[in-house]
Amino acid sequence: MGRILLVYDTKGGTTDEIIGWIKDGAESQGASVDIRMAHTARSLDYDLIVVGTPIYNERPMKSVRDFLRRDDLRNKRVALFVVCFAGVFGMRNFMVRRYLEELKRLCTGTVVKQTSFDSASGPWRKLNRSVCADFGKEIASIMRQQHTALEAA
Ligand SMILES: Cc1cc2nc3c(=O)[nH]c(=O)nc-3n(C[C@H](O)[C@H](O)[C@H](O)COP(=O)(O)O)c2cc1C
Repeated sequence: MGRILLVYDTKGGTTDEIIGWIKDGAESQGASVDIRMAHTARSLDYDLIVVGTPIYNERPMKSVRDFLRRDDLRNKRVALFVVCFAGVFGMRNFMVRRYLEELKRLCTGTVVKQTSFDSASGPWRKLNRSVCADFGKEIASIMRQQHTALEAA
């Protein structure tokens, strides 16, 4: 079974929680998952690297922008997500598209998936949790396809 690295940063903790839900979803499909903060990530020896950041004042966090510029991310498969007020349950509105475009432009790796999550709390928290866990399941499936293709090559 292949390995997934989840890389992120947070100021208020929402993205911490979202990362945990994504991990739960991916592990429920048998994936092996490691988590690193953007500024502490070292080895990128993984089948899929998932990079997430909250948006503050229209920008992704600097630590995540710096991570995406890393030279050793080249030729790696990368999934991107943003966490923001504008990101209601993965729907693409104009602002979310702009945030994701900036991440994609910076990323030296090959972007295979991108999405957004809302910083939902209260009654919406449960729905947000299952949306994030579903994303975790989806990335496990993307990673599996990659892993199988490499083994067959
Ligand atoms: C000072 C401040 C600025 C923000 N700016 C934006 C913004 O420009 N666009 C947006 O969609 N959300 C914005 N947000 C919402 C945050 O992205 C959202 O609260 C997110 O969940 C924070 O993630 P974190 O708790 O992991 O740090 C802002 C929140 C704060 C407190």
